Amino acid sequence: MRQASGMVNPPATRGALWLPFTQMQDALVRRFVRASGSTLVDDSGRSVFDATSSIWTIVHGHGHPAIVTAVARQAAELDHATLLGASNPRAEELAERLCALAGLPYAFFASDGASAIEAALKMAVNFWRTRAPERTRFVRLVSAYHGDTLGAMSVSDIGAFKDAYRDVTFESIAYDGTRFDAILARGDVAAVVVEPGVQAAAGIRLVPDSAYAALGARGEDAPLVIVDEIATGFGRTGPMFASEALALAPDVVCVGKGLTGGVLPLSATLASARVYDAFLAPSAERRQFFHGHSYAGNPIACAAALASLDLFEREDTLAHARELGRALVAPLAELAAHPRVRDVRVRGLMCGVELAAETFVARPRSAAWRVADRLYERGHFTRPIVDTIQLVPPLSSDEREVVAFCAALADALDEVP
Ligand SMILES: Cc1ncc(COP(=O)(O)O)c(C=O)c1O
Repeated sequence: MRQASGMVNPPATRGALWLPFTQMQDALVRRFVRASGSTLVDDSGRSVFDATSSIWTIVHGHGHPAIVTAVARQAAELDHATLLGASNPRAEELAERLCALAGLPYAFFASDGASAIEAALKMAVNFWRTRAPERTRFVRLVSAYHGDTLGAMSVSDIGAFKDAYRDVTFESIAYDGTRFDAILARGDVAAVVVEPGVQAAAGIRLVPDSAYAALGARGEDAPLVIVDEIATGFGRTGPMFASEALALAPDVVCVGKGLTGGVLPLSATLASARVYDAFLAPSAERRQFFHGHSYAGNPIACAAALASLDLFEREDTLAHARELGRALVAPLAELAAHPRVRDVRVRGLMCGVELAAETFVARPRSAAWRVADRLYERGHFTRPIVDTIQLVPPLSSDEREVVAFCAALADALDEVP
């Protein structure tokens, strides 16, 4: 279909709605109208297992009554008030609890993961401005992904997302986990930015612990270390934060996604005392952090986050997630042995099953997407990352749900031509 202007007129999908990371011309668009627990319900009435936790956000299941109640109460009491030169009790309480959990003393709130990363990058540049102004560069892990704003893209590595924006992003230095001495010797690095243990967007890529060995206790003059726990935080990989299991001594930790239990947008950039102190000075010196977002520390989102943290304690969410992980060992081993599977990668409840794409008939719609379509017909909603089928279930899922996903995936591997 072509309009007079020569522009391709996309098939009707969702009217005016433009979806992220979606080719609107292809438009096999799911449409969800309800959710409960680990289940999404689409507009045809089909119930599907939310096998990606709605892209690594949902922790305690959809519509958990404790979070719903906290949100409703807070909306009635104080819906929103700016954090620009003001405060609110929920943001204060959440800052205290998050900082105690992460072992850093200060919390700066934003909304999405990428905005937490932007704040972290700017904190790092500002930190060095008075003590070593030549430190303006960033080091990233190979295959990194930290979000889609220009700064976050600049420290990311996934060409398909960033190639079109080369001219408006800045160069960062790729670190493959082996030559950190050479990086230190440069003297121009402000910070090293890492995802701890798992690179989710790279296809649940596992990073060996040794890559972080050089990022533990460092001298005062060493680059800052920014740890991105946006995908891995809140129990996804086993511990509350993936970095707990690594030899990392972060100056800054970014959290988002599961912070509110996954139900409202809220992120935080947690900072060490020396990073925070670098911004303290008499007002006339204008050293304050000139950065912020309208909805930073929104009380309703903070109330959801506080309710989520309570649930971690009350429902022993991490212990349940560990049990689910154990229940997945055998089904994932079976999948690993399937002739159409190249690799299975797992850390905690982040699982990637990489297909041997060459064993499928070549079609315009990739093998992984066709497998995902088949899974949807069988009641499971996932989103492939290139050739990798992901299973990143809500931590509250039950054993039956995750085992059923693996069985359906095995069937789909047998059925898709
Ligand atoms: C490791 C990591 N960092 C940052 C982000 C960006 O978060 P958001 O999509 O909330 O901006 C993501 C999103 O997937 C992520 O996986």
